[in-house]
Formats: sequence, C-alpha cells, structure tokens
Amino acid sequence: MFDFDKLTNHFITSGYYYQGSEIYGGISNTWDYGPLGVEIKKNIRDMWWKRFVQQSPTNVGVDAAILMNPKVWEATGHVSTFNDPLIDCKSCKMRYRADELIDAIDKDAHAERLSNEELMNYIHEHHVKCPNCGKEEWTDIRQFNMMFKTHLGVVENATSAVYLRPETAQGMFVNFKNVLRTTRKKLPLGICNVGKAFRNEITPGQLTFRTREFDQMEMEFFCKPGDDLKWFSYWKDKCLTFISELGIKKDHLRYRDHDPKELAFYSAATTDIEYLFPWGWGEIWGIADRTDYDLKRHMEYSGESLEYLDPDTNEKYVPYCIEPSVGLDRLVLMTLCDSYDEEVLEDGETRIVMHLDPCVAPYKVAVLPLSKKLEDKAKEINTILSGYMSCIYDDTGSIGKRYRREDAIGTPYCVTIDFDTLNDNSVTVRDRDTMKQIRLPVDQLAEYLRVKVFF
Ligand code: GAP
Repeated sequence: MFDFDKLTNHFITSGYYYQGSEIYGGISNTWDYGPLGVEIKKNIRDMWWKRFVQQSPTNVGVDAAILMNPKVWEATGHVSTFNDPLIDCKSCKMRYRADELIDAIDKDAHAERLSNEELMNYIHEHHVKCPNCGKEEWTDIRQFNMMFKTHLGVVENATSAVYLRPETAQGMFVNFKNVLRTTRKKLPLGICNVGKAFRNEITPGQLTFRTREFDQMEMEFFCKPGDDLKWFSYWKDKCLTFISELGIKKDHLRYRDHDPKELAFYSAATTDIEYLFPWGWGEIWGIADRTDYDLKRHMEYSGESLEYLDPDTNEKYVPYCIEPSVGLDRLVLMTLCDSYDEEVLEDGETRIVMHLDPCVAPYKVAVLPLSKKLEDKAKEINTILSGYMSCIYDDTGSIGKRYRREDAIGTPYCVTIDFDTLNDNSVTVRDRDTMKQIRLPVDQLAEYLRVKVFF
C-alpha cells in the first residue's frame, strides 16, 4: 500500500484533481476534477447508470432537484437529528468531531454510537488530548446540524429558508407515486438518482473521501414487505459485483454488517462495503433495508397516501425499501488508489503505472507519432479513433518518455505511427500492463480497441 500523500501528489500533478479556487489560496478541502478526473468520474457514473438503470428490468431513473420543500427534511428527521457532535480545544481553538477524536485512539469504542454525555465521559476518563496542541482543555459538546441553509428568492426570512439536499434519496421517495403512475410499472420497482449532495462536514479530509459537496448515486428499491431481505441480499451482491468490475483487488474490499446495536431503529439490515485505503478501511457503499419508514413519514408529513395497490392480488400496503447508496467521489478515489503501482524494470528504472481498467481509464488510447514529419498521418488516425473513444495526442519528447507519461496516467493503449506506417498503413499498438507491442493495420485499429475499452 502506498503512502496517501504520495498518491495525492501524483493525482494532483497529473491532472486528476486540482485544489478548488487554488489561485486564491484554495477553500478548505474543496477539490476540482481536472481533465483526467472528469473523464474517469463520468465513466464510472455512466457505468453505474447502465448497470443499475438501463440493464435492470425493474429500475428507472429520475433527476430530482437539489432544493426541496423544507418539510421534506422535517419528515426525514434531518432538521432535528442530522447532527455531528462538535467539540473545541479551549487552548488552540481547533475544532473536532468528538466521536472522531475517540475513534483515532480506540476504534473499538464505536464512538459514533455514543450519546453526547457518553462521549464527554470517555474524553475525560481517558484523558483525551488535543491532537494539535496536546492540551486537555475541552469545551462542552454541541450538536451541529450538517445541512447547508440558503434562501429562495430575493427576501431572506424564515419562510424563504431552504436546504441544499444532504442526500439524493428523498427525490426518489417523493416521486414514488409519480413514477408508478407515469411508467405503469409494478413492484418491485427501483428508482435511481445521481447528483450533488451537500453536508457541512466538520472534518472533511483525505482528498475527496469526505467533502462538503459530493456526488451520490442512490437507488430506492420498493418491494413487498416480506420480500425485503431477499432483495437486500440481491442488491448487496450487485453492488460488490459492480466494484469488482472496476478492477478493485478483492482483498481490499469487505462487507461490514451493522450489528443490531448500531442499526437505525427502522432498519431491518444494513451493510457497508468498505475499501482498504492507505489510512485504513473506509465506507464506500451503504446498503440498507429501510422497511416502510421513509414512505410512512412522507405520508404523515405530506398528507398524501403512498400506499401501493397490487393489481394482481388487490392487496394494499406501504412498500418496503432497499437503499444502496454510494458516493461517486469515493468510488473514483478508491479506483485511483487501487490502480497505482511502481514497477522496477529490468534496466533498474522505476515506472509509475496506473493499472486502471480500460473501461474507466480517462483516455483509452494515446496517439504518438515517432517524428513531427508524421503529423498528418498521426492526426488522421487520431481523428478516426476520436470518433469512437477518448484519445490523447502527444508528439513531444522521446517515445520512451511518452510511454511513461501514458503509463503514469493509466492510458491502456498507445498507438505509435512510424515511417513504415506511410507505406503499409499499419501502426504499433502497445499494451500498458504487459508493455508488449503488436503491429496492426489502421483499418482494424478502432474495432480492435473498441472491444477492449468499453463496459
Ligand atoms: N441516503 C443514505 C445516505 O446518504 P450515507 O451513508 O450518509 O447514506 C451514502 O451516504 C454514501 O455517500 C456513503 O457511503 C459515501 O460513499 C458517500 N458520502 C457520504 N458523505 C460523504 C462526504 N462527506 N463526502 C464524500 N462522500 C460522502
């Protein structure tokens, strides 16, 4: 496992990420995706959409608005309970999440399950010190609501206050009836949504692992009560299969089932899929059996019936819901971390290579003319390939240096145009992982690559 600072540096210098608002000194833990990052993120999002929406007979998609009626967040409990326990060091004024302070010294304390009083007792009894200044002078714990508040329209008053959604999920629950009506689908029915979510995290960090603005890809899968555990297990498998398709090493992944004490009171089962990041295990995907909790809460707060009438049996019930919820930015970060490698070659040189699955790699192929004199032919080939896949054209530096540059950003194939190409209309295709080269006629090139680089 490589040092995370080293990985971060590599991802930033190669154009996967940039610090947000960098020329102004940045803004705390905000990241922009550069030309490479935006491509890999799009590829993973498209792959999720294909697997979970287009290729699933039960599922459909929506694109719900970020701003929702504030009553939604009263119904879900976010207004009253979406809080983090905040504590400050009186000496150096650093601010922490109390549960994370404890987690850092004792993972087995399961601090996220402790009440404020229990957290405070733990901090005093175990003489927890400020990681910044080493003092032991703490304020009381205060609850801090993580939702960002803003205002609709030009007048800022209490009635115009709205929240930036802290999850995409509620866009599916509130549209449950609309989707049933307009698609004429029966249960089981999955509704999927991809988009931004916002949380005023106290301790963002580890690049895009925890940020205040992030993309979620969520599904609410509605089914008959009693069938829920079967579907829970089905979607658990599907989520892990999806991650495996990204090429992630098996021993870097695990399921973590929530034990009964940790489960939300309404949940019949919850599992996280975790990835072994350089700093330890981190949650990627949460899969929860949320029973009929959300629909019932929305029925109560909206006054609308969200019951389902089964057209085959005439049974009426409030459906149960399975929710697989994943952070797209975490999927990207995991994929990048897992692909990075340093290989010592026979001549003693170390090559940096990102073994990205070709399906998610930002550029599928690099087009490299051996000489500037071959520019016309190389550009012609680049134009042909660009019609099928994302390409990068590079004519600067020695061919060896150009291969290394492509290895380091994960481009799976390099196509080299040499003087023979002008005579035989063939090119050399080099494989990133094996470094083996083959000769191929130009008219077979697009098809040869196409079958290798798409999911
Ligand atoms: N609707 C359920 C829900 O939002 P969650 O566990 O709070 O559940 C789901 O979030 C996923 O969203 C997480 O597993 C993680 O991948 C991602 N996520 C949550 N908070 C995040 C943050 N601050 N930054 C990046 N990703 C985050």
